[in-house]
Amino acid sequence: MERIQAVRGMNDILPGEIGWWQQVEEAARRIFQDFGYVEIRTPVLEKLELFTRSIGENTDIVEKEMYAFPDRKGEWLALRPEATASIVRSFIQNDLYADPLARKFYSMGPMFRHERPQKGRYRQFHQVDVEAFGIDDPMLDAEIMFMLRLFLQKVGLAGVGLHINSLGCRDCRKSYRESLRVFLASQAEGLCPDCLRRREVNPLRVLDCKVERCKTVLETAPVLLETLCDPCRDHFSRVQDYLSRLDTPFAVDPRMVRGLDYYMRTTFEVVTDRLGAQSAVGGGGRYNGLIRDLGGPDLPGIGFAVGMERLVLLLQQQGGMPRRNARFFVATLGSAAREEGFLLVQRLRSAGIGAELDYEGRSLKSQMRRADKLGARFVFILGEDELGRGEIQLRDMREKNQRIVPLGEAVRHARTLPTG
Ligand code: HAM
Repeated sequence: MERIQAVRGMNDILPGEIGWWQQVEEAARRIFQDFGYVEIRTPVLEKLELFTRSIGENTDIVEKEMYAFPDRKGEWLALRPEATASIVRSFIQNDLYADPLARKFYSMGPMFRHERPQKGRYRQFHQVDVEAFGIDDPMLDAEIMFMLRLFLQKVGLAGVGLHINSLGCRDCRKSYRESLRVFLASQAEGLCPDCLRRREVNPLRVLDCKVERCKTVLETAPVLLETLCDPCRDHFSRVQDYLSRLDTPFAVDPRMVRGLDYYMRTTFEVVTDRLGAQSAVGGGGRYNGLIRDLGGPDLPGIGFAVGMERLVLLLQQQGGMPRRNARFFVATLGSAAREEGFLLVQRLRSAGIGAELDYEGRSLKSQMRRADKLGARFVFILGEDELGRGEIQLRDMREKNQRIVPLGEAVRHARTLPTG
C-alpha cells in the first residue's frame, strides 16, 4: 500500500525531540504566570477579515502566505498566521476589558503560513505568544523584553541578541511616509514589481522586502527613527533607560521593520546567527490603535511571539535533550512475581510515582538492561523467593546499592527516596 505523507512544511513532533518542547512550554507557563499573564486559547480558524484588517492587506503574510478558503457556506475563513489578532478579537468579543485584572494573556499553539519550507521555516509552526492590553507606559515595553530574555535564559538558550527600534506613531509616520515615497520614486528602476506596487499603496511595506536588489536600494533609504515626534522619541528613550536599568542588553537597529502593519512605537526582535537564513527567534512590539481598529475600546497593546521550532532547533544544537522517564522500574522473575509486580507498578503510579515494567516476561538481565536504558533511578526486584517472604529488593542504580524492604511497604518507601 502506498503510504500517506504529512502535508509539506507541516511536521510531526516526535519522541526524540519532545523533551525540548515540554521544557519550553513549562518554562513559558511558569515565567509568564509569575509576570501576571493568564493563558487564553483561541480557535485556529478565524474569519479572513480579522487578519486582513489587522496584519494589513499589503503585507506578505496576507498577500502571499495565508491559508484562506471559503467554507461550505461560502464564508471566507483563514487558518491563523499569528495569534495577536485572534487574542484581540477574543478580548473584544468577550468584553474581557471590563475586568481590569484580565488584561495580560499568553497562548501557545500552531500557526499557518504558506512560505517556502526550509530549516526554521515551516507552513505549520508553533508560537508562544504574549499580549498585554491597556498599559501605555514604557516601563511595560521594557518589562516585556526583560521577561522574554528571562524566558530564553530559563530554557537555557545562549547567544541571542535583542534588537529594538521605534516605528513612531501615526503622526510621525505621516511625514516619514512622504519622504520615503519621494526616495522610492527616485529608485524605481531598482525595485521589484511588488515594491513598485507597494510604494504607492503602503510604502512602509517596501522596507520589509526580502528581494536582494530591493534590500540594496533600501540601504540608503531615509530612517524613521531619526524623524520621530517628541512624544515618540521620549517613549523610546525611556524604554532604553529601563532596559539598561534591568541589565537587559540590546542594540538599536533603525532598519528593523516588522512584517505586520499594526505596529507603532517600540518594536523588537530576538535574533541569532545560528539558524541559517532565519535569524529571528522571536519578535513583537506595540500596537496601540489595533484594539480600536478591530471594534474594541481605544486601549493600547504590546506583545511578542517566539517561534517554538526555531527555539527548539537552537536548543538541539546545544545538545542534551531533557528526558523525563519513569523514576522506578519493577523487574520480576517468575509468573507469580510478575503479577505482583504488575500491581505494584499501578500502585506506584497511583501514588504519583513514575514507574515502568517489562510487559513481555523477558529475563531478569534484560529487564535490568531496559531499566538502565530508560534511565530509571530505582529498580524494585521481585523473585519467587522474595515474594514468599513478603519482601522486595530495592536497587539504587546511581549509588549502586541494594536493600530489602517489606513488599507491603514498597510504595511508602518509594515516597521517601530522593527525586533527583
Ligand atoms: P512574527 O515576527 O511574524 O510576529 O512571528 C514571530 C516568530 O514566529 C518569528 O520570530 C519566528 O520565530 C516565528 N515564525 C514566523 N513564521 C514562521 C515560519 N514560517 N516557520 C517557523 N517559525 C516562524 C508575529 O507573529 C506577531 N504576532 C508577534 C506579536 C505578538 N507582536 C505583538 N504581539
